Amino acid sequence: MDRMDKIKNHFEEESVQYDGIIKNLIPYYPQMVEALVNTLPFNSSKDIDVIDLGCGTGTISCAVKYAYPKAKITCVDISGKMLKVAASKLSDASGATFINRNFYDFSFDKKYDAVVSSLALHHMVTKQDKLEFYRKIYSCLNAGGVFINADVVLASTDALQERYMEQWKSFMCKNVSTDEVDNKWIPTYYEEDRPVSMMDHFEMLKNAGFEVMDVVWKFYNFAVYMAVK
Ligand SMILES: C[S@@+](CC[C@H](N)C(=O)[O-])C[C@H]1O[C@@H](n2cnc3c(N)ncnc32)[C@H](O)[C@@H]1O
Repeated sequence: MDRMDKIKNHFEEESVQYDGIIKNLIPYYPQMVEALVNTLPFNSSKDIDVIDLGCGTGTISCAVKYAYPKAKITCVDISGKMLKVAASKLSDASGATFINRNFYDFSFDKKYDAVVSSLALHHMVTKQDKLEFYRKIYSCLNAGGVFINADVVLASTDALQERYMEQWKSFMCKNVSTDEVDNKWIPTYYEEDRPVSMMDHFEMLKNAGFEVMDVVWKFYNFAVYMAVK
């Protein structure tokens, strides 16, 4: 089974329990989502066009829709089952479109006011893949549009990374058993995730054409960062 199929299967299996699981594993997940949405620089009455990459069960899209009732949202995910949960959570919302696809292969054939993503882009393996993807994101944004990503990142040094991992484990151990953390969630992280440091993200974003960027929220190895076109 290739790497992407493994990731897809992981989320297909987890889709129903996902919303409960994620709060136990990601420190201050609701605050992270709030920081992402609060960073959108538009008037709340505007009919902004947004794309949510790796939307999962639609938590980010729901929060965007709540803050921007007239927003049009395109939800993209490789897992049909995650997308199904997203569609049910957004069933009362107008202007939501669901696309079951690998976002690497997605052809951004229109312009968006915002490209958002949460806990999904770290699955891209190489820095070259990440850079090329940032270029695609830059091209599909309207002038003044924003890219906002909430994601797992690496520390700038190995010593700091050890501290980050200790803090993350200690958060998870408050919610699930140490055995589950050590034998399930940490191995899954090393197998599936390919994070890079904030410094690397900034360098790649600049390389992709962005000039304005910032970190808007951070808790050790989890960050919400943004860039403006
Ligand atoms: C950890 S979940 C995050 C879901 C949601 N964004 C959230 O914040 O709760 C990662 C999601 O990204 C999706 N995903 C990962 N890689 C993807 C890819 N290459 N193309 C499309 N979806 C992908 C997975 O199927 C999964 O639903």
